Amino acid sequence: MSRAAVLCGLGGSLPERIVSNEELAEQLDTSDRWIRTRTGIGQRHVVAPGQSTSDLAVAAGAQALASARATAGQADDGVDLVDPVDLVVLATSTPDRPCPATAPDVAHRLGLGPVPSFDVSAVCTGFVYALATAASMITAGIAGRALVIGADTFSTILDPADRTTRAIFGDGAGAVVLRAGDSGEPGALLGFDLGSDGSGADLITVRAGGSRQRSVPGPAAEGEEFFTMDGRPVFTRAVLDMSRSSQSLLERVGWSAAEVDKVVAHQANIRILNAVGEQLGLEEKQIVANLDRVGNTVAASIPLALRDAVAGGELQPGHRVLLTGFGGGLTWGSAALVWPELETGRPHR
Ligand code: COA
Repeated sequence: MSRAAVLCGLGGSLPERIVSNEELAEQLDTSDRWIRTRTGIGQRHVVAPGQSTSDLAVAAGAQALASARATAGQADDGVDLVDPVDLVVLATSTPDRPCPATAPDVAHRLGLGPVPSFDVSAVCTGFVYALATAASMITAGIAGRALVIGADTFSTILDPADRTTRAIFGDGAGAVVLRAGDSGEPGALLGFDLGSDGSGADLITVRAGGSRQRSVPGPAAEGEEFFTMDGRPVFTRAVLDMSRSSQSLLERVGWSAAEVDKVVAHQANIRILNAVGEQLGLEEKQIVANLDRVGNTVAASIPLALRDAVAGGELQPGHRVLLTGFGGGLTWGSAALVWPELETGRPHR
């Protein structure tokens, strides 16, 4: 047994407004049928004017902290029920502003005091990267309890005329609490596999707004402030990189694919999830999917899928869980854990 980071709280938040495929089809040259058959998505949530990533992150964070307190109370293990966290890591690529990071504002609004807090930018792999960062700081003894949030509001950076990206992306936030424990406990993060390939940086990008574009005189070219994605190569790489990363982590942890109860992959496209399942030799019941209701929520995708799988009874204590993500950068990453007993309360939407 060794010191490990143990998952002990879970929460999530979605903005109120739902945009159905039918509503998109009224504005763009698309259809419910195309979106459902090509992506598996039926609707997505979108922030209201004035609502931002930090607003969703605060709501998800508060829920994860409440879940951690309730879980500690339920276990009656002597843990201080209002145990504060001493670290906040926020995965996002739609921060409230380019500078400073959004995490300090989130920590402040959650009343967490002067804790270290920072953003991690790895697009759709952001949550796995943030989880690995926080877990490493816990195992190194730098932190004792961490709030890890994945939050994004891609509706704020999409081209309103781009039918492809508007069909796929939705806004949301998901969060977990990690505490120091030992590697034999349920909830202990058992291992990570992380990677990147910057040669694919142009495949998923916002061209304007950074130092590259701002270091030349004049305004950005029209449309460059919007998010763009080259769908086909992204699809291929997502399948390849999530499959390889999952495989290499499974070998390290010593589980076969058949021994995994639930694979919670980044919710990009149902065809991507199914193709990863095929590569790993998984059965359909092993794959968690909630993208029909929320779309691709970027850094929030994995924790929101966890939350929905717990709420629906699909994910149970004792299940062997593999998390795997892929995103802009390009980046990818996987994590493994045995699902713990958690008190999560009713999902907030
Ligand atoms: N409605 C109707 N037609 C659409 C459409 C939409 N919402 N979006 C794209 N199309 C069209 C394309 O314009 C193209 O038309 P054309 O043949 O006249 O040029 C046609 O559908 C086929 O496009 P293609 O890109 O080959 O479709 P696809 O089956 O690969 O599906 C994606 C497109 C974007 C859904 C798919 O490539 C994908 O899911 N990629 C990965 C996206 C992703 O997960 N990104 C995040 C990763 S972190």
